[in-house]
Amino acid sequence: MTVTLVPTLPTLSRPPAPARPDPLAVLGVPGEINLDHAASAPCARAAADAVAELLPWYASVHRGAGALSRRCTLAYERARQTVADFVGARPDDHVVFTRNTTDSVNLLARALPAGTTVVTFAGEHHANLLPWPRGSVRLPVPASPAEAVRALDAALRELRRVDASRSGAVADGRPGLPVLVAVTGASNVTGERWPVAELARVARRHDARILVDAAQLAPHAPVDLAALDVDYLALSGHKLYAPFGAGVLVGRGDWLDAAPPYLAGGGATSHVGAATHEVHWATGPARHEAGTPNLLGAVALAAVCTALAAADRDALHARERALLTRLRDGIAALPHVVELRTFAADAPRVGIVSFVVAGRDSAEVAAQLAGAHRIGVRDGLFCAHPLARRLLAEAATRSGRRDLPPTALRASLGLGTTAAEVDALLTALATLA
Ligand SMILES: Cc1ncc(COP(=O)(O)O)c(C=O)c1O
Repeated sequence: MTVTLVPTLPTLSRPPAPARPDPLAVLGVPGEINLDHAASAPCARAAADAVAELLPWYASVHRGAGALSRRCTLAYERARQTVADFVGARPDDHVVFTRNTTDSVNLLARALPAGTTVVTFAGEHHANLLPWPRGSVRLPVPASPAEAVRALDAALRELRRVDASRSGAVADGRPGLPVLVAVTGASNVTGERWPVAELARVARRHDARILVDAAQLAPHAPVDLAALDVDYLALSGHKLYAPFGAGVLVGRGDWLDAAPPYLAGGGATSHVGAATHEVHWATGPARHEAGTPNLLGAVALAAVCTALAAADRDALHARERALLTRLRDGIAALPHVVELRTFAADAPRVGIVSFVVAGRDSAEVAAQLAGAHRIGVRDGLFCAHPLARRLLAEAATRSGRRDLPPTALRASLGLGTTAAEVDALLTALATLA
């Protein structure tokens, strides 16, 4: 009997692929509850991994011929493109890497053409109030998004009327004086969203440009410059889960290319001659990025942009909204805690809530939350003094309480915040009655 040996094939059972770590998981310290995302968000795994991967290659950017340097230059310029795509920049927009939103707004303030009038609202963060030149128009804090749109329309109409009657421009076909509207996408005090698309339409109607301070909006919602028809956008990497010190100013290149460089120095020039003032400044982002750039900051920021772009933003939004509702409902149920708000209670908002504990100093409450409950929140006037003071006065009127403190507390949520953490804050606040 012949036996045919049929080789038995080993079953091809592949080991299960290791679960890919969630790029939007955030790093933290067990036991510490961080409800201060609006100040600086924790580091996303995507940012930490991108930095760790690049660190062995770390070398000069735009300055070296070596392999390391070339890789770093490529990574930096790819980061620029990734950020551009993330915010829906137009092909000819500039993406200038800065340190943060404050730096970005200051850069744009330095690049304004002579005679530009800047129009803001008093509800802005100081970063979008203080850099603007004298003569800027500061509109009162509106009571609703619709009122903001109406007030801007009226202010721009009046500006154009005065400009036309003074200079005769527009009537004889010359363009009027430049006007820039500078508004936040979401308030760092109340989390309320501003009607950016409508404000942009109004600005356009009056031939004005518009800057959106997206420091608080971008971490919570997609922002598309082209779709919103917004001219400039500023944001901070450290609020977008990329804590390596980079921000961006994105927008129209003409004012930026015509302005003196924000910083004078290496990398911002195309030619420097022997005579003191013989210098040709570069155009494009390089003009305003003198000095060795923050490669790791740019790469970290881009890594988070990539991770957010690939994520289900609707699901993230729904999760955050549920946590925010839990927090606000919980606060509303505490008779000694009063929320601050500018618009109606149901106005659209991101995961930020400011409030006061009646009869209690806010700094003391913040210290107690940290010390006794390991909960980190912010206290003070949140670098938005005019708005915070006004809202504190309004909260006293609305609640009928005379024992509200002169500063407030702020809890802000983000990726990684859990219902248990929100409940921990509410329980701690309940004990302060
Ligand atoms: C709405 C808004 N704009 C601007 C800034 C300034 O951001 P940065 O400190 O990163 O420059 C902040 C910071 O809290 C902010 O909340």
